[in-house]
Amino acid sequence: MKYISKKLTIDKVKVQDIAEKYGTPIYCYSFNKLKKNIKNFQKNFSSFSPLICFAVKSNTNINLIREIKKFGLGADVVSKGELLMAIKAGVSPKKIVFSGVGKTSEEISFAVEKKILLINAESESEVREIDRIAKIKKRKVKIGIRLNPNTDAKTLSQISTGKKENKFGVNEKIFFKLVNFCKNSKNISLKCLSVHIGSQILDYKPYEKMLRVVDRIIDKINHKFEFIDLGGGMGISYTHKDKKLNYAKYNEIIKKFLKRHKLKIIFEPGRSIIGDTGTLISKIIYIKKNESKNFIILDAAMNDLMRPALYGAHHKILPSIKSKRKSNKTYEFVGPICESTDKFNTLKNFQELKEKDLIAICDVGAYGMSLSSNYNIRLKPSEILIKGSKIQIIRKKQKYKDLM
Ligand code: LLP
Repeated sequence: MKYISKKLTIDKVKVQDIAEKYGTPIYCYSFNKLKKNIKNFQKNFSSFSPLICFAVKSNTNINLIREIKKFGLGADVVSKGELLMAIKAGVSPKKIVFSGVGKTSEEISFAVEKKILLINAESESEVREIDRIAKIKKRKVKIGIRLNPNTDAKTLSQISTGKKENKFGVNEKIFFKLVNFCKNSKNISLKCLSVHIGSQILDYKPYEKMLRVVDRIIDKINHKFEFIDLGGGMGISYTHKDKKLNYAKYNEIIKKFLKRHKLKIIFEPGRSIIGDTGTLISKIIYIKKNESKNFIILDAAMNDLMRPALYGAHHKILPSIKSKRKSNKTYEFVGPICESTDKFNTLKNFQELKEKDLIAICDVGAYGMSLSSNYNIRLKPSEILIKGSKIQIIRKKQKYKDLM
C-alpha cells in the first residue's frame, strides 16, 4: 500500500475508486502481498522443506484459501466447518491437520472419514474418543498429541497458549502416558508431537525455549515420530515499534534440532501469511466534537474488526488522500455500535479530516473478517481481492434477508 499522487493505492487500485464502486466498509486483500508472504515463508525455511498448513481460522474466505493452496500449502483447521471449507477450496486432506481442545465425536468421525493427515489431540479423553471412533470405523487413525510446553510466548495474555495455566495441550506427564496408550492401541498411530505457544510472537527466544522442551521430551521417550508440528504464531509489525521476528534465527534453531532428530516439520501460520495483505476501508459518517477530542465516527465497527475491542490491538489508520494540514485535536476513531469499546484507535497529530472522507485500517487480513459478527444486526462487509489492477469480488456483502 502506498500513496501515488497523494492517493492511497493498494497495488494499482486507488482506495477511493474501490469505495465508490463497491461501497464501504469493505475488506481488500492484495494478491501480490499474499504471494510475497508465502514465498518468503517458504524461502525462510527452505533448507528443510516443511509442510506449511495455513491456519484457516485467521481467514476463512474460500477464495483466499484456494489461492494459498495453489502455492502448495495445506490447512490447519479447528472445526468441521473449517475442514469442510478447506476441502471445498481444494486442499488435499493429506495436507490437513485438525487442532482444537473440544473436537466433538461428529467432528472426529468426519475427519477420520476424510483421511486427513493428522488429528492433533489435546487431552486424554480426546485420544480415547479417537481410539473408540477409529475402532468402529475400522481405520488406523494418524494422530498427533499437542504438548503444553509451559513456555511463555511473551505476547498478549489473551493469545498466549503454551503456559501451563492455558487450556491447550497436555503436560509432560500426560503426554508420556498417552504415548504408551497409543503404543498399545491397534486403532491409533501416533505420528506427531505438536506445539503452539501463542500468536503474534515477535521474539524468537520463546520458540527456542519451546524446542528445548520438545527436544528433551523426544529424548526421554522411545518413540519414532514422523512429524513435529511447531504451530504458527509468527508475528507481524502492526506498528513501527514492533520489531520483526528473526526468521533466520528461528530457522537456525530448527536446523540444529533436526540434526538430532530426523523428522518432518509442520508449521501452522495464519497471521504471517495473510495479516498484512488486508485493509479495511471505511467512510467517516460524522465527526462529533467535544472539548478534548473529535470522535471520528466510521461506518466500520467492532463487528467488522474485533481485534481492538477484544485485545486492545493496534492497527494503523491511513487517510485515503494525503494532506499536510494537521489537526490540533485528538482523533478517536470509533464505530457506530453501542459499546464503549467500539473504538479503533486514538491518534494525535493526524491530518485534518472531514465527514465523508475515507480512511484505511491496515493489516486486518488475519482475524479481521474471520472474527466479524452481526452484532447490532450489522451486515458483514464484502471482500475483494486485488491482483495488480484487477479486482475480484471474493465475498458479497451480506443482505438483510440472510439474517431475517
Ligand atoms: N495453530 C494453532 C493451534 C492455533 O491455535 C493458531 C492460532 C494458529 C496455529 C495460528 O496462529 P498465527 O500464526 O495466526 O499466529 N484472534 C487473535 C489470534 C488468535 C490465535 C488463535 N490461534 C488475534 O486476533 O490476534
